Amino acid sequence: MQKLHPLVKKVLFTKEEIESKTKEVTKEIEKYYSDKNMIDNSLLVLGLLKGCLPFFTNFCMNCDLTMEMEFMVVSSYKGTTMAETEPKILLDLQTDVRDRDILIVEDIIDTGATLKYVYDYLLDSGARSVKILTMLDKPSRRIADIQADWACFTIEPEFVIGYGLDYQEKIRNLPYVAICDTDKLKDWKW
Ligand code: PRP
Repeated sequence: MQKLHPLVKKVLFTKEEIESKTKEVTKEIEKYYSDKNMIDNSLLVLGLLKGCLPFFTNFCMNCDLTMEMEFMVVSSYKGTTMAETEPKILLDLQTDVRDRDILIVEDIIDTGATLKYVYDYLLDSGARSVKILTMLDKPSRRIADIQADWACFTIEPEFVIGYGLDYQEKIRNLPYVAICDTDKLKDWKW
C-alpha cells in the first residue's frame, strides 16, 4: 500500500473506485455513441490539459469506440468573479472540428466557466455535437450554465487533490482523489 501524501486529509476515491466507476460510465458512453453516424465512425475525444490527463487516459484505454484524441489548454483565472472571468485559449485544437462529434473529458467541473467557454467555442467552430464527461462534479460551485452529460462522482465544495488535480502544479500524480488538509498549506514547503 502506497504511503498517503502528507497533504491528504481524507481519501475520497481510491484508484480502484475511480477505475471501476470509469468502466461503468464508459459502457454508457459506448452505448450512447454506438449508433451515431460519425465522421470516419470516429469520436473526437478532447482533453483539457493538464488536470484531465490521468482520467482521460483511464477513460480512453477502457473505451472500445474508435476515437481521435485532441487537447486544449485554457487558462481559467481562479478566484476572480464571473465578470472578470474571460478564459483564454493557450493551446488550440490541431484539427478541424466541423461536423465532428466531440466528447470533452475533464477532471473537475467547478464554476463551469472554463467548460462553458470551450463548449461554446466548439459549437461556434462547427462541431456537430459536444458532450461532457467529468471525473468530479462540484455542482454547488456552478456559476456558468453548463452541466456534465456523464459525471463519475459528485463532491462537496472542498479543495481536492490527486488523480490530475494539483496544488501549485504538483501532486497531480497521486493515484487517488483526496481532500487536501488546507491547515497545512500556510507553512507548506515542497
Ligand atoms: C481546472 C480543471 C478544470 C477547471 C475547472 O483546471 O482541470 O479545467 O479548473 O474549473 P472551473 O469549472 O471553475 O472553470 P486549471 O485551470 O486549474 O488547469 P489544470 O487543468 O492545468 O489544473
